[in-house]
Amino acid sequence: MLNEIKEHRSIRKYTDKQIPKDVMDSILNAAIRASNTGNMQVYSIVVTTDSKIKDELAPTHFNQPMVKNAPAILTFCADFNRFNKWCRQRNAEPGYDNFLSFLTAAIDAIIAAQNACIEAQANGLGICYLGTAIYNADKIIDILNLPKGVIPVTAVTIGYPAETPELTDRLPIEAVVHYEKYDDFTTEDINKLYEEKEAREDNKQFIAENNKETLAQVFTDVRYPLANNEHFSEVLFGVLKKQGFLK
Ligand SMILES: Cc1cc2nc3c(=O)[nH]c(=O)nc-3n(C[C@H](O)[C@H](O)[C@H](O)COP(=O)(O)O)c2cc1C
Repeated sequence: MLNEIKEHRSIRKYTDKQIPKDVMDSILNAAIRASNTGNMQVYSIVVTTDSKIKDELAPTHFNQPMVKNAPAILTFCADFNRFNKWCRQRNAEPGYDNFLSFLTAAIDAIIAAQNACIEAQANGLGICYLGTAIYNADKIIDILNLPKGVIPVTAVTIGYPAETPELTDRLPIEAVVHYEKYDDFTTEDINKLYEEKEAREDNKQFIAENNKETLAQVFTDVRYPLANNEHFSEVLFGVLKKQGFLK
């Protein structure tokens, strides 16, 4: 396994050092070498280094400090705009104003993002994904001038690390991998798979800090609660309509 994959940890604090152009170019070239649907490359990457634009983006990422602190933010977008234009200019009628096409483009964008992250880490940089890109896609569309057919699906902060956090835990591999067919979990399986995670001191502290009884409640009640999920789903449906992927 590549060291960059084995040693990955999200970096949320960066030094002031800017990313040299050749390094950024190699990150972007790694991104575009990714597998993609039909080699249509229906995604785009917006590179933000201008501090004024970073300041505008910061609230859309719930003011997570790394947005202003990182020398660069890459916003990966599902993008049928360019491809549709090409089709129309070549007497071909695009049929990509639907949910399947959005998902296709979103998958392409995310695979490209991960390639960029691995190349960034191979160059000594640290990265952190910003899931907030889909929460506030409507606002990011305005700030980055994204035309119809383009929707941000994830963003990544990139810079030289000013911290070396511990590797985060992972569930045992049996939690994730099924051989041949899906083998559903019994109550005992779930207890066993989550045992180590729940026994960790940092997670016990997390439960106490949030006044909860279980770690799962921190997720359901604090970090990713139903009301937020429903609200941001509505926002996203609105964005899909506005950007031409849903009628
Ligand atoms: C799609 C996605 C969205 C994420 N969004 C955020 C985010 O908004 N803020 C943040 O601090 N970390 C974010 N992360 C980083 C995760 O919290 C992190 O990957 C996870 O806790 C595992 O830690 P590690 O990356 O250090 O191994 C995100 C990761 C992914 C893949």
